[in-house]
Amino acid sequence: MRVVVTGAGGQTGSLVVQKLLENGINTTAVVRSEVSKNKLAEQLGAKAAVNIILADIMKPETLGPAFVDMDALVIVTSAMPRLLKSSLVGVILTKVFTLGFVSKKPSFYFDDGQSPEMVDWMGQRNQIDASKAAGLKHVVLVSSMAGTKPDHFLNSQMDNIVLWKRKAECYLVASGLPYTIIHPGGLLPHFGDRNPAPGGRRRLYAGTDDSLMDDGQNHSLVPREDVAAICVASLLEPQLSQGRSFDLGSGPEGEPCTVSLKDLLEPLQGSNSQYTKEQAEFKGGKKIRSCPCGEQ
Ligand SMILES: NC(=O)c1ccc[n+]([C@@H]2O[C@H](COP(=O)([O-])OP(=O)(O)OC[C@H]3O[C@@H](n4cnc5c(N)ncnc54)[C@H](OP(=O)(O)O)[C@@H]3O)[C@@H](O)[C@H]2O)c1
Repeated sequence: MRVVVTGAGGQTGSLVVQKLLENGINTTAVVRSEVSKNKLAEQLGAKAAVNIILADIMKPETLGPAFVDMDALVIVTSAMPRLLKSSLVGVILTKVFTLGFVSKKPSFYFDDGQSPEMVDWMGQRNQIDASKAAGLKHVVLVSSMAGTKPDHFLNSQMDNIVLWKRKAECYLVASGLPYTIIHPGGLLPHFGDRNPAPGGRRRLYAGTDDSLMDDGQNHSLVPREDVAAICVASLLEPQLSQGRSFDLGSGPEGEPCTVSLKDLLEPLQGSNSQYTKEQAEFKGGKKIRSCPCGEQ
């Protein structure tokens, strides 16, 4: 099997590449800059048998050469929210003046031309079109939980990022390509957390339509390494994974670990995340601007 991974310089994408190589799978890694290429090459080590290609998902003409002769694609690209540092003042003052009873979320912005609408909708659509043109046999899409929650922080503060991702999922489902869609919860390690979050040490949980966020069981976080492992397992076991769309979370370390994709998906009894016409036709809501104060 020949697999191409986009967003391969990212935190989860690089782990997907690493795990594919560990499984002896012929892997092409797509990054969009020399900086990401060098970072990935360094992370994988000089001996890694990986083909690293530069392409930009916003420029469809760059994708064809990366996808030709491939069997499967793992999409791990995403718009990248940047923290508006000045908004932290409001977060801290609110906490102090309300003695911690009220919490205010910080604000985020996206670089010009890199909004969720551009990257998570149009960029994913470009990749799905390129997959179809190249005759790929399986597309694994890493998306996110909160796709059923327009008021969730990720949507209200981040330009509807998960709603745009959900629109791309609808496009993939309608494309006729064999697919697997994974909605991880909060990825570990969290931003700025120095504690590593190794994979393979937790029981993993599957859900649909944000059920893991709502069930009060605290299973909505998951290590990036476990997400990467499920991407690879999905490629290796297409009979279990194709046509499936599910949420992915985990319990604390110390519980018996999940050992197989079959064990993970069994509790769903074949059910999948449900897509609606509204999600497929999402046109965006209130937009946040690029950084309003020159703070970059
Ligand atoms: N963070 C969370 O808690 C969380 C929770 C749930 C789901 N997710 C989702 O899980 C996935 C993985 O997250 P992550 O934090 O591991 O990702 P990440 O480190 O932010 O990586 C995103 C990747 O997308 C690439 N990218 C962005 N725009 C691109 C473009 N125009 N062309 C080509 N590549 C482009 C970036 O390339 P460069 O390397 O060049 O910058 C980067 O490698 C994402 O879809 C994310 O939204 C995240």
